[in-house]
Amino acid sequence: MIIAICNHKGGTGKTTTTINLGRALALRKKSVLLIDLDSQANLSYSLGIIPSEKNIGEVLFKKLPLDQAIVNREGMDIIPANTDLHEYEESIIKNNYGYLLLKDAIGNLNYDFILIDCPPSQSTLNISAFCAADKVLVPMLMDVLSLQGLNQILKTIKEVKENLNSKLEILGVLGVLVDERRQLTREILEHIQKNYPVTVFNNYIHANVKAAEAPSHGVSLLEYAPASRGATDYIALANELLKIYKN
Ligand SMILES: Nc1ncnc2c1ncn2[C@@H]1O[C@H](COP(=O)(O)OP(=O)(O)O)[C@@H](O)[C@H]1O
Ligand SMILES: [Mg+2]
Repeated sequence: MIIAICNHKGGTGKTTTTINLGRALALRKKSVLLIDLDSQANLSYSLGIIPSEKNIGEVLFKKLPLDQAIVNREGMDIIPANTDLHEYEESIIKNNYGYLLLKDAIGNLNYDFILIDCPPSQSTLNISAFCAADKVLVPMLMDVLSLQGLNQILKTIKEVKENLNSKLEILGVLGVLVDERRQLTREILEHIQKNYPVTVFNNYIHANVKAAEAPSHGVSLLEYAPASRGATDYIALANELLKIYKN
């Protein structure tokens, strides 16, 4: 299953979720490929990967064989990004099949889960991820302004589904940086459940200082602080996902 982890807003836990959901699935013996599709290369840096010619831009545009771009970390395969990636956005638009390059590259790979860490903003790379993906997971802060972001992303998914990838579905909304003591958090969760045609994961990710510390150590949160609340939240999320799809 190919899952795009996407929210057009920045700082909504996309990268943290890609890494730690991936790691939790790998711990359950699933084969996992992470793709860093953000030119800020946060996922790559967070896993201690030094920029090199092994990156997704080279695979898509210079046709480096995909298996030569793979780096291994914590039982996962990873295709890193580097900061040149945004330079390719124009090429995607100019090429008739530009949006489908990613799909062509990863569509036939044999992994249980491919997780794509999407860039913030409504970029061409995001559309490429939606063309390649089966499902979209939306990590979201529980505040009112983030609801606007949810509207936006649902609109983009609908457009891609109608025009480019009819099988695309929203997997669910994941609450991140959740503080259960806040009344607003509960209200927003309930509001989404009542008013939006999307699943909200039963598990959500609490705000946890260890989650913010892990990237500077170049390892996942599950590796850095396995007993932390954030780590156990991601394990619970992986279990919920596996239960839904009985993979
Ligand atoms: N559960 C959490 N608790 C505390 N800080 C978090 C948590 N998840 C992510 N962060 C921190 O919040 C910031 C944004 O997260 P990140 O995953 O990079 O978001 P995005 O990829 O959507 O921009 C990062 O500094 C990250 O370390
Ligand atoms: Mg990110």
